[in-house]
Amino acid sequence: MAAARCPSLVLMLLLSCCAAAAADEKLTHLHFYFHEVEAGAPNATIVSVVSLNKSAPAFGDVEVFDNELREGPDPASRLIGRAQGFGVNASLDGSSIFTAIDFVFSGDYGEYTGSTLTTQGQLDPTGGPSERSIVGGTGKLRFARGYMKSRLQSSTNTTSVFVFDMYFTLAH
Ligand SMILES: *[C@@H]1O[C@H](CO)[C@@H](O)[C@H](O)[C@H]1NC(C)=O
Ligand SMILES: *[C@@H]1O[C@H](CO)[C@@H](O)[C@H](O)[C@H]1NC(C)=O
Ligand SMILES: *[C@@H]1O[C@H](CO)[C@@H](O)[C@H](O)[C@H]1NC(C)=O
Ligand SMILES: *[C@@H]1O[C@H](CO)[C@@H](O)[C@H](O)[C@H]1NC(C)=O
Repeated sequence: MAAARCPSLVLMLLLSCCAAAAADEKLTHLHFYFHEVEAGAPNATIVSVVSLNKSAPAFGDVEVFDNELREGPDPASRLIGRAQGFGVNASLDGSSIFTAIDFVFSGDYGEYTGSTLTTQGQLDPTGGPSERSIVGGTGKLRFARGYMKSRLQSSTNTTSVFVFDMYFTLAH
């Protein structure tokens, strides 16, 4: 009897395990805005670290930023975190900027407060639509995998607002 029961127990465990994995595969979508204050302006959130040619953008240039993440395009909308990372001009033809950014949800962002998403990829330097990879996460966002879409929404002479859509699964 015991021997007969064991295989069915194993099967049951396997089935419940697969059901849990399938449930976690659902795609999560986050939508928010990134507010950047240009280098040189008061309270700038981006600095130029390497500028190889003072008179023009050049291959090898590096910028570091710590931009605000807000619920909306309005700078007074709810603060949900920060986008901390760097951009490197890693294309000789100027067609893209390589970025590595941690999205740190440190503000008021419900269940994701205290969690992070880590991203990497190519940004269109003209502000056009860009798709980059979500390569991981921490806290409630552990094992995140997916992609993010972004584009320039609006800008002034000292600020830029980008809209972000993150799509990921938490499969593990
Ligand atoms: C810069 O930040 C300080 C401190 O938060 C604030 O009082 C000031 O109004 C800000 N200046 C601008 C131009 O945003
Ligand atoms: C720096 O940029 C200017 C303007 O594009 C260009 O004329 C000059 O040749 C560049 N200098 C170097 C060292 O590449
Ligand atoms: C990146 O470097 C290339 C080659 O020097 C240059 O043509 C392009 O303008 C630079 N782009 C940016 C955004 O720095
Ligand atoms: C940026 O725009 C503001 C008004 O929108 C203006 O007062 C300021 O002089 C401009 N700054 C530069 C560097 O063009």
